[in-house]
Amino acid sequence: MRFDVFTLFPDVFTPYLETSILQRAQENHLVEIQLHNIRDWTTDRHHVCDDLPYGGGGGMVMKPEPIFTAVESILGVPPSCPVILLTPQGRVFTQKVAQELSQQPHLGLLCGRYEGIDERVREHLVTDEISIGDYVLSGGELPALVLIDAITRLIPGALGDPEGAWDDSHATGLLEYPHYTRPPEFRQWRVPEILLSGDHARIAQWRRQQALLRTRLRRPDLLERANLSEKDRDFLDGLELDDK
Ligand code: 6GU
Repeated sequence: MRFDVFTLFPDVFTPYLETSILQRAQENHLVEIQLHNIRDWTTDRHHVCDDLPYGGGGGMVMKPEPIFTAVESILGVPPSCPVILLTPQGRVFTQKVAQELSQQPHLGLLCGRYEGIDERVREHLVTDEISIGDYVLSGGELPALVLIDAITRLIPGALGDPEGAWDDSHATGLLEYPHYTRPPEFRQWRVPEILLSGDHARIAQWRRQQALLRTRLRRPDLLERANLSEKDRDFLDGLELDDK
């Protein structure tokens, strides 16, 4: 899978992309991530990428010309892949959207900055707009990294663990069960005895129940869409009795 990222701040991507899972996924040629500085496609002496808003008001607006030139130079006319604008006005990014986008062989990611981007970019270049949640960030760079990370994790082989991302929070529609490692007692806090028992069937059942319990307490909204067995429902119904 290939990502082409268009940004005024390519340097902020590098340290994260050169770390851990993303570094290894690139080394193993599972993903290729190309960074493009929009400023490189300006033609004026001072490489200006923003200008005053027509109609007045505060802030600056990203100019259309260098964005169109950058994206069309790399992705063609019209672009040969989806061009996603990262903006708080976009549809909200979820694990489901990550799964959908991981089916694409090639994505363009356009990072907005300043107070906004000339509307003609949205109307005539961008094919999708994505937000990572209901809060305001200074630009689309962190959101672009969020997309790249979440999508890369879904590419077969990107995670070392053969079970991959299957058990991850949200992948199953539930929050994850609690994890423990050595030592078995730390400051008098014991690891739950079941995990030391070697009884793998009972451990799997305990973990499933912990995931259900945790989701019920912290994110009951997720339970409505989760894939639950009869046994899961019985367990949750038992909890509901305890609450009353
Ligand atoms: Cl994609 N961009 C910005 N600037 N702020 C955000 C966002 C995106 N998603 C949530 N907040």
